[in-house]
Amino acid sequence: MMNLPIPQLTIRLYGDPCLRAKCEPVEEIGIVEKLLVEAMIDTMDRHKGIGLAAPQVGVNKRILVADIGDGPVAMINPVIKEIKGEAVMEEGCLSIPEVNVNVTRPAVIRVSYTDLNNRPRERKFKELMARVILHENDHLDGKLITDYATAEELKKYAEVLKKLEDLQQKKSG
Ligand code: NI
Repeated sequence: MMNLPIPQLTIRLYGDPCLRAKCEPVEEIGIVEKLLVEAMIDTMDRHKGIGLAAPQVGVNKRILVADIGDGPVAMINPVIKEIKGEAVMEEGCLSIPEVNVNVTRPAVIRVSYTDLNNRPRERKFKELMARVILHENDHLDGKLITDYATAEELKKYAEVLKKLEDLQQKKSG
């Protein structure tokens, strides 16, 4: 887009209140939003992630990016319009390292969103891409994979989650 250095963003970890907030819609996509998206894609790539939501970098706005290997997609104000089918898969999250949870999600989705050029879009996604979008869209409502975890999974990860929360307490306290 331009030759400014891409700002380095820090990934917020489990326990950060930012991850539990309901995000606000973006009213207009300007230079700030475009730079944010560029930095989010860079951050996602650096962490070898396949998706990232704005609250994960401390911004409570309805913005997500996803890239499962065929190029990055950025969605502003995504809305899931239609869901079909069901699939289970183990998911991780850059904000909750070391934790993997089996999550049941729709297999096919139709999602409307605004693209970076301020154009309204509506697209259908399936399988992994549908899953990533649904995972990131959950982030925009403060929902995390641990919310899908069984009691057994929570027990298995109790120590890791506690450690992440303690780390967070130390940072903010
Ligand atoms: Ni996540």
